[in-house]
Amino acid sequence: MRTPVIAGNWKMNMTVDQAIELVKGIHYGYKNPGQVDVVVAPPSTSIHPVAQYLKDSHISVAAQNMHWEESGAFTGEISAPFIKDAGADYVIIGHSERRQYFKETDKTVNKKMHSAIKHDLIPIMCVGETLGEREDGRLQDVIQRQVMDGLDGIESFAATDIIIAYEPVWAIGTGKTATSEQAEEVHSFIRSLLHKIHDTKKANGIRILYGGSMNSKNAAELLALPNIDGGLIGGASLVASDFIDIIRS
Ligand code: PGA
Repeated sequence: MRTPVIAGNWKMNMTVDQAIELVKGIHYGYKNPGQVDVVVAPPSTSIHPVAQYLKDSHISVAAQNMHWEESGAFTGEISAPFIKDAGADYVIIGHSERRQYFKETDKTVNKKMHSAIKHDLIPIMCVGETLGEREDGRLQDVIQRQVMDGLDGIESFAATDIIIAYEPVWAIGTGKTATSEQAEEVHSFIRSLLHKIHDTKKANGIRILYGGSMNSKNAAELLALPNIDGGLIGGASLVASDFIDIIRS
């Protein structure tokens, strides 16, 4: 049985004060620890204050990105040890906005995965096709490449330490959600890829989240599907009551 994960990706939103207000709302509104792993990913400026606020709560904190090196001359970057030190336990890696706007590749995603796991952060590795790739019939090729290259060399790690998020690029922030059939098809394909690189127990233990315009109205249907183990939520995670409704789903 995989524990569902509901993760809020706040992207470049929320000042420190706004971030604390938002987690206060989520914390007070959701009092049912244990059934769902709840994670929030504030901008890096708010990781520490949010983690401090949530210290004794059942809500965990994620970074939205990281560098694969531990320290050094990489202006503007933060590394896994810094994220850990700031109080986060998770990190989002390879989000499509990072791939699209910051030229991240499967190779850099893979380096980040190794560093995250080494430093005891749970990586949420994002994969997903563009509309063009889907329409050209390249959906499976793209997903396979992103999953296999992203996970290259990490077969020996505990599977529970890895989360994958399937986020079709055409569904992110557009209000267009994948249908249940579209989502489940890709999720079960990802599961079959995991079986190629892990033994059955590990492959079945990895949680695969759906992301892309998930909201309080469509969450229940998507989350009921056999291979959808939670959600990575952008827009709808910025309003406490919407996010709580998704957790309750
Ligand atoms: P969205 O974003 O929910 O606003 O579509 C999801 C994401 O980018 O993780």
